[in-house]
Amino acid sequence: MRAVGLTRTGGPEVLEVLDLPEPEAGDALVIETAATAVNPVDLATRSGQIPTSLPAVLGWDLAGTVAHAPAGSGFRVGDRVLAMTAQLGTGVGSMAEYVAFDPGFVARVPDGVKLEEAAALPLAGVTATQLLRGTPDRAGKRILLIGAQGGVGAHLAARLLDEPDAHTDLLVRPSDLPAWQERRAGRPGGGAVLTEPGDVRAGSYDIVIDAGGAPALFDAVRPRGAFLTVTPFSAPDPATRPEVAYTLISVELNREDLEDVVEAAARGVAPRPELTVLPFEEAAEAHRRLERGGFRGKLLLVP
Ligand SMILES: NC(=O)c1ccc[n+]([C@@H]2O[C@H](COP(=O)([O-])OP(=O)(O)OC[C@H]3O[C@@H](n4cnc5c(N)ncnc54)[C@H](OP(=O)(O)O)[C@@H]3O)[C@@H](O)[C@H]2O)c1
Repeated sequence: MRAVGLTRTGGPEVLEVLDLPEPEAGDALVIETAATAVNPVDLATRSGQIPTSLPAVLGWDLAGTVAHAPAGSGFRVGDRVLAMTAQLGTGVGSMAEYVAFDPGFVARVPDGVKLEEAAALPLAGVTATQLLRGTPDRAGKRILLIGAQGGVGAHLAARLLDEPDAHTDLLVRPSDLPAWQERRAGRPGGGAVLTEPGDVRAGSYDIVIDAGGAPALFDAVRPRGAFLTVTPFSAPDPATRPEVAYTLISVELNREDLEDVVEAAARGVAPRPELTVLPFEEAAEAHRRLERGGFRGKLLLVP
């Protein structure tokens, strides 16, 4: 079978379509991949910024149909499913024609959600769900969300803007302003769309959530407030403000969270990123497009 992977780290050119044996069925659920999504972690793994054992198949997100269902898994051949394989922790890359994975971490794709739409959801959606679980007490608070236009940020914004008791300001790039003013209009939560980090006053927020990578805005949270970030390579030093509750999120496998995300998509309340679909053979081009910055939506690779 074909799989997008690498035998050495480096620039996008190290990506290859590898020819690998199909995975052993056994106790694992085997998914015939319809689509996989490219995430920033794939770029960091490919470049060597995050160490991984080689050779490796890349990718965390996929959706497809069940090709083999072990007894007792609750799945049948042909079921439409999605999964987050957490490649760095499990060693299972999603960018392969067939992916064998623990059925306990696979969720069904409801009717009405296309497999390509589902493939765009897992890592970004599950990270946002787990981050919000880390900030339970949001009513009456002033919140700043940095990078609302990104994959994780859009899932967070979709949830926060529906909270009538919270005041959430969104910080986006200037070019994202019109789209985000439109999305924010008519939503129950209060708050504004900002584009200039320099306009953010020090100490003016109870909670700052960084889904983009703006460590300088650590200052924006008030003393005894909370700062949560998902960007380990662009995070402030928590020791510089010990009076702030600091959390660096590390996403974990969780089937219920995956189900919540795909069910939100079925109800039409999850973000619907514009999808750009390329074949496995154009994986290097996909990485180049993301690496340039300014890409919006989700880039999918299909077998
Ligand atoms: N810790 C974890 O478990 C975990 C899980 C998932 C993701 N992540 C990390 O979280 C980050 C976001 O992931 P993602 O999938 O959402 O990536 P993404 O879709 O590329 O979104 C990131 C967004 O942040 C924007 N951004 C960067 N710096 C900004 C700033 N100073 N102000 C405003 N916006 C800014 C980017 O805009 P431009 O394109 O214009 O630069 C981009 O739109 C990545 O670093 C990823 O590796 C971590």
